[in-house]
Amino acid sequence: MKKAFIFDLDGVIVDTAKFHYLAWRNLAKGIDFDFTEEQNEQFKGVSRVRSLEILLDMAKYTATQEQKEVWLVQKNEEYLKYIQKMDESEILPDVPRVLDYLIENQQGIALGSASKNARPILERVSLLDKFQAIVDGNDVTAAKPDPEVFVKGAQALKTEAKDCIVFEDSIAGIQAANAAGMISIGIGDPTVLHEAFHVFTNFTELSNDFLQELIAS
Ligand code: G6P
Ligand code: MG
Repeated sequence: MKKAFIFDLDGVIVDTAKFHYLAWRNLAKGIDFDFTEEQNEQFKGVSRVRSLEILLDMAKYTATQEQKEVWLVQKNEEYLKYIQKMDESEILPDVPRVLDYLIENQQGIALGSASKNARPILERVSLLDKFQAIVDGNDVTAAKPDPEVFVKGAQALKTEAKDCIVFEDSIAGIQAANAAGMISIGIGDPTVLHEAFHVFTNFTELSNDFLQELIAS
């Protein structure tokens, strides 16, 4: 049976969620707002523009459009500084094992990320060639929890939604996968990702036997 496995990027394949958090926290400091890791959960999977809106709402800060544009550039510039230093050590545990197992078993593999920096990140960690399709923030108009990014991933792999499995670390991403009619698998904290079909703290807990069950189901 051929299935399509669609991977989110930040927090699933690479440990970049921490860099997004650091860059937003620094920006928040500039308007005297103490941005916590708990609040950051709401930013995961959410586009850059929407993240800034949420941050300003949390801080109860009204900004002009010009100021917002400046902050969006500033946030991305800081984020890119972290990314430029990335190498294969930033790949999350057992991601290569899972990707290689799926490739050996002739399964479809796509990326479904809100990030506009997805391709350079995959290049930096030498994983770009593992993906048959890449759908990222440059390809979608509606952000997660809208299912658009995963629907496009499924189309790119010519696979029906019911045969797609999505790996996600964000609440918005799990909701997007569920809305698309796909099997959502949370990678992270089960209490945060309780809407997912299955949750694993990380890929080391997700065995090849479990992957085989997904393939065969
Ligand atoms: C991912 C991250 C979000 C980030 C979004 C846009 O979904 O989880 O935290 O805001 O991508 O990323 P970008 O690299 O385009 O700013
Ligand atoms: Mg993510």
